[in-house]
Amino acid sequence: PQKKMKDIRVWMDGCFDMVHFGHANALRQGKEFGTQLIVGIHSDAEVTKHKGPPVYSEEERYKMVRAIKWVDEVVEDAPYVTAIETLDQNNCDFCVHGDDITTTADGQDTYHMVKKANRYKECKRTAGVSTTDLVGRMLLVTKTHHQRDARIFHFVHSPWTGVSQFLTTTKKIIQFSEGREPKPGDKIVYVAGAFDLFHVGHLDFLEKAAEFGDFLIVGIHTDPVVNRYKGANYPIMNMHERTLSVLACRYVSEVVIGAPYSVTAELMEHFKVDVVCHGMTPVMRDVDGSDPYAEPKRTGKFKAIDSKNDLTTQIILERIIKHRLEY
Ligand code: CTP
Ligand code: C5P
Repeated sequence: PQKKMKDIRVWMDGCFDMVHFGHANALRQGKEFGTQLIVGIHSDAEVTKHKGPPVYSEEERYKMVRAIKWVDEVVEDAPYVTAIETLDQNNCDFCVHGDDITTTADGQDTYHMVKKANRYKECKRTAGVSTTDLVGRMLLVTKTHHQRDARIFHFVHSPWTGVSQFLTTTKKIIQFSEGREPKPGDKIVYVAGAFDLFHVGHLDFLEKAAEFGDFLIVGIHTDPVVNRYKGANYPIMNMHERTLSVLACRYVSEVVIGAPYSVTAELMEHFKVDVVCHGMTPVMRDVDGSDPYAEPKRTGKFKAIDSKNDLTTQIILERIIKHRLEY
């Protein structure tokens, strides 16, 4: 890559397994240290060697990180221990990492070389979310599946997502949002859903939905609504967490926090919606038995999209259980 005089190229690396808004927040802060953000991602072999097999494949992790709006370049198969040569090869001035210690399988600090060379800076780690925490929440789903009273224990933190300690502030939402309004004549696309545990299936869907217009609005359903149609112990992430995950995606222009389940005429008028999209996943009826997309279908504004990706939160859960059994 070519480097201009004023460019400051920042290097960040990691596993980015089950990519979440904590990762996105680290990347957002990393980008603020310079002008270009280059993200190195470890291969499946490298992650397996140092901390066990990842839940998401390297192809999924590369794609998910590329779609985070602060990322300029992704470097595949980056070494687990950050090397000076890697920074030099990619024209990066320094490396940024969250203020937690990351070690190799032998207990060595993965940043010892860049620290020694004075090419290391830190950003603040996001409390209350991690891959381990998300895996824990997923396993809680299976454990409590047949226990009717299990939910009582969850109320300590949240009736819907159990163990979460992450607290969303308006500041965080402002930091993540585009703050952009549609330009006159922009074609407006609207989609709505749970977007729980934002994954590569959602990403493929949003990428295609964005191609239908110039401004993509994503409606995020509330926790009780998601719980009604996805069933016991869902959602895994609360509405504010789901909002941040979706906001971090480069295809998304705006998010409606707590969108109504049915796409009404009022909503379409309010946001001047031209097209409403939904993927190939089944559409559950609203409480009164009606089709939530009846209005856009009636006005010829509904488009079904094939994301060509059949990943669901349920499949991710199955992978986690399978991995668990491998130990
Ligand atoms: N990160 C962060 N806040 C979190 C989780 C991760 O700031 N809640 C940062 C890490 O400090 C690192 C980057 O995201 O700079 C990539 O993280 P990764 O290598 O995936 O590290 P982990 O710390 O293992 O992430 P997790 O705990 O979620 O597995
Ligand atoms: O299931 P959820 O409400 O999170 O889905 C949000 C949107 O993403 C829906 O339109 C759904 O059809 C779409 N989707 C998709 N491909 C997947 C997963 C979801 O097109 N693999």
